[in-house]
Amino acid sequence: MKLFDVYPLFPIEIVKGKGCKVYDNNGTEYLDLYGGHAVISVGHAHPTYVQAVADQVGKLGFYSNSVINGLQETFAEKLGNACGYPDYSLFLINSGAEATENALKLASFHNGKKKVLAFKKAFHGRTSVAVKVTDSPSYVAPINTGLDVTFLALNDIEGVKKELATGDYTAVIIEGIQGIGGIIEPNIDFLQALRLECTQTNTVLILDEIQSGYGRSGKFFAHQYAGIKADIITVAKGIANGFPFAGVLISPMFKAVHGQLGTTFGGNHLGCAAALAVLNIIEKENLIDNAKQIGDYLLHELKQIPQIKEVRGKGLMIGIDFEQAVKEIRNKLLVEQHVFTGVAGTHTIRLLPPLCLTKEEATEFLLKLKQCL
Ligand SMILES: Cc1ncc(COP(=O)(O)O)c(C=O)c1O
Repeated sequence: MKLFDVYPLFPIEIVKGKGCKVYDNNGTEYLDLYGGHAVISVGHAHPTYVQAVADQVGKLGFYSNSVINGLQETFAEKLGNACGYPDYSLFLINSGAEATENALKLASFHNGKKKVLAFKKAFHGRTSVAVKVTDSPSYVAPINTGLDVTFLALNDIEGVKKELATGDYTAVIIEGIQGIGGIIEPNIDFLQALRLECTQTNTVLILDEIQSGYGRSGKFFAHQYAGIKADIITVAKGIANGFPFAGVLISPMFKAVHGQLGTTFGGNHLGCAAALAVLNIIEKENLIDNAKQIGDYLLHELKQIPQIKEVRGKGLMIGIDFEQAVKEIRNKLLVEQHVFTGVAGTHTIRLLPPLCLTKEEATEFLLKLKQCL
């Protein structure tokens, strides 16, 4: 059997990692400004993380959601306190797309409505409902076409008011910072007005913090820069530093009903141990502050480089726009300078490094980028 060819691959096999460095099967070292697509939060092979996962797998890797899992309860309490939503409940699943699916399902159970408002350039996953609220028609198969979704321009509050006034919408879904769309932030006053409109029209406000959350923006959640609270928040990626794990944070206004949501693997013991280790490391090493400080440094320095058209972002979620397509720069960074970066569209390099990136590593990246330019 061969692999189903859905990914354009770099001809590199990464076999090892340490902190913000990864190594290929020839022993070549790479600086990781991509974090395996925003997934590596506390750094590759962090010793506390490795120990926690190893200890747990030696004890119990998995048992079903039909019995008490104390690790889930410990994790939920710790996450609630860490992220500023201590009174919310947690539903655990395995991936970002599943978080989107469950968030929308819950909204619809709650207010009995069906339509969803999403935003242009949004990405929320590739499964059934998630792909429909993603603004990429080429990812939507005929079988996914059941959901009624309206896409508005980001920050179009008049459009939001007009749509929500119909009373037809179950939810509005919005990324804390659009990632795949090109590191685009919703305006603070837009988010505040959106919050108000959702409350007034009994529409559920879902904040997708799958990429922008977990400290990446320099706050636990990017929407916290606007001082608002969401009704549902989705998290994945950095939550367990690479172990497939995700969560839906749910306001007390939602009623839990047995059987409405469920999963075999979600919240398993091994994932909980990984996710608990991540929260402990983030706290002990002040990684959210580090993301803010190193992010500010990178944003400031990148803005001084004349060949760059625009720099956007917060913390360690940074978009670098060029006049020309970035394919060649990105390839040079990888092949000549041994630096992994991400991309958004054709003209934006996307930085999503581990939150433990040091100032020295950030400076090393800036030097290597300048050499490529
Ligand atoms: C904002 C956002 N939402 C949802 C997803 C989907 O997550 P997953 O790939 O884990 O299904 C992603 C993945 O890139 C994302 O960036």
